[in-house]
Amino acid sequence: MDESTQILDNVTLAAYIVASVLFIIGLLWLRSPETARAGNRLSALGMLIAIVFTVIDRDIVSYEWIIVGFIVGALLGAIAARQVQLTAMPQMVAIFNGFGGAASAVVAAAQILSQNDTRDVDTVVSVTVALSVLIGSLTLTGSLIAFGKLQGIVATQPVLIPLRHVVNVVLAIAGIAMAGLLIYDANLEWALVAMAVVALIIGVLIVIPIGGADMPVVIALLNSYSGLAAAATGFVIDNPMLIIAGSLVGASGLILTRIMTRAMNRSLGNVMFGGFGVADSTGGTAPGATDTDRPVRSVNAAEAAILLGYADSVIFVPGYGLAVAQAQHQVRDLADMLKERGTQVRYAIHPVAGRMPGHMNVLLAEADVPYDELKDLDEINDDFRRADVAVVVGANDVTNPAARTDRSSPIYGMPILNVDQARSAIVLKRSMASGFAGVENELFHMENTMMLFGDARASVEDLLTEMKEL
Ligand code: TAP
Repeated sequence: MDESTQILDNVTLAAYIVASVLFIIGLLWLRSPETARAGNRLSALGMLIAIVFTVIDRDIVSYEWIIVGFIVGALLGAIAARQVQLTAMPQMVAIFNGFGGAASAVVAAAQILSQNDTRDVDTVVSVTVALSVLIGSLTLTGSLIAFGKLQGIVATQPVLIPLRHVVNVVLAIAGIAMAGLLIYDANLEWALVAMAVVALIIGVLIVIPIGGADMPVVIALLNSYSGLAAAATGFVIDNPMLIIAGSLVGASGLILTRIMTRAMNRSLGNVMFGGFGVADSTGGTAPGATDTDRPVRSVNAAEAAILLGYADSVIFVPGYGLAVAQAQHQVRDLADMLKERGTQVRYAIHPVAGRMPGHMNVLLAEADVPYDELKDLDEINDDFRRADVAVVVGANDVTNPAARTDRSSPIYGMPILNVDQARSAIVLKRSMASGFAGVENELFHMENTMMLFGDARASVEDLLTEMKEL
């Protein structure tokens, strides 16, 4: 190796270390809404540095295809990020995970397929090619099914194939056997292709039996897989940056999966094999069903505005319906109006409110809600009993007291926001329909709860009008 190549290698390594540090600080900053945007930019800068130095350093024969790929990828990414509705963000993450897994698998496979003489392929390389192709391929099809379920292209109900566990075990053994053959003899290209096909089928089979409702958890898990595939490919092409970035994605995806399942009081096994949505939903109404038998207290905007007008302390509880109604700006206006009247205003954020991690934080940040008013479940839960009014905006499951007591409820054990302990609760939703878990909410039938029926955005606008009249 001549001196200039050695210098370039060292500079590239230094750039990779800088990029890795930027990734780690960026991830750290994502923990708080105040620093999240800067964290995102920092990580993007890290990625730019990594790409630039990789492209300069490697023995690039022709830059043409790299430039084409860069332009097409950047354009598609920018358009998708700008166009996507916030409620469709999980689908976008799913499809990006799938492409990430596929890219890792293709790069790893190319390492073997492009060699004329594979006799000298190192064992580490063949093992990591096998891992990357297996994980990357199943991530691709699994993510495509997850995307399809969320988009309504594939049946959202769990599709339960007879003997599916047996079929999965047989396929897994076949995949491992093909991997073993490839590691034994890297010339066996058919084993590589067969292994990829088996993994593609496994990806479909492990996601199709899971209900659409559990897709966000599955997506977090597949995100972790796409990171593992990238890390394996990093070993294949001897690129430390890919190993570090892949490991970060792998670990953070796994942590996110754990946070989500814990906040839903489910185990990962229960999500993957439990068939949530097919199992009994005893004690609850079917999704979308209307419970007309038990009485509820319905109020109009004028009555609700009077209650709010005399409150000293108000806690807003946003949920999925806030995202559907896109009512975040109106809620902020209402909060501002209350604050002008001397009312203390806070927002109670449940870790799984909405349909993706941080869903409510992102929505409220869009409406410039001050970060110090956003309170996590642990921070705010004891304060409900001192609050005059809790305003539930399109939230349902995360406020359901049955989670504390009803052992037959699918949400039993899930920590909930103590809305029922507030002096009064006003619930903004369109009907008595159930939420994500498909169960009836005891809160709606309680003495201190008032239902303000209608689209959340229209209801908050009405409240604003009525408050002005006070
Ligand atoms: P949900 O329990 O799903 O309830 C949302 C409610 O919003 C519905 O009952 C619906 O009632 C109402 N709504 C819909 N559109 C509306 C509109 N335009 N205006 C007013 N209300 C509207 O939501 P949640 O309380 O946020 O709980 C989240 C659920 O999702 C939990 O069960 C959680 O486990 C699950 N989950 C969350 C995640 C993450 S990471 N956040 C991931 C997977 C699953 P109407 O139809 O009557 O209006």
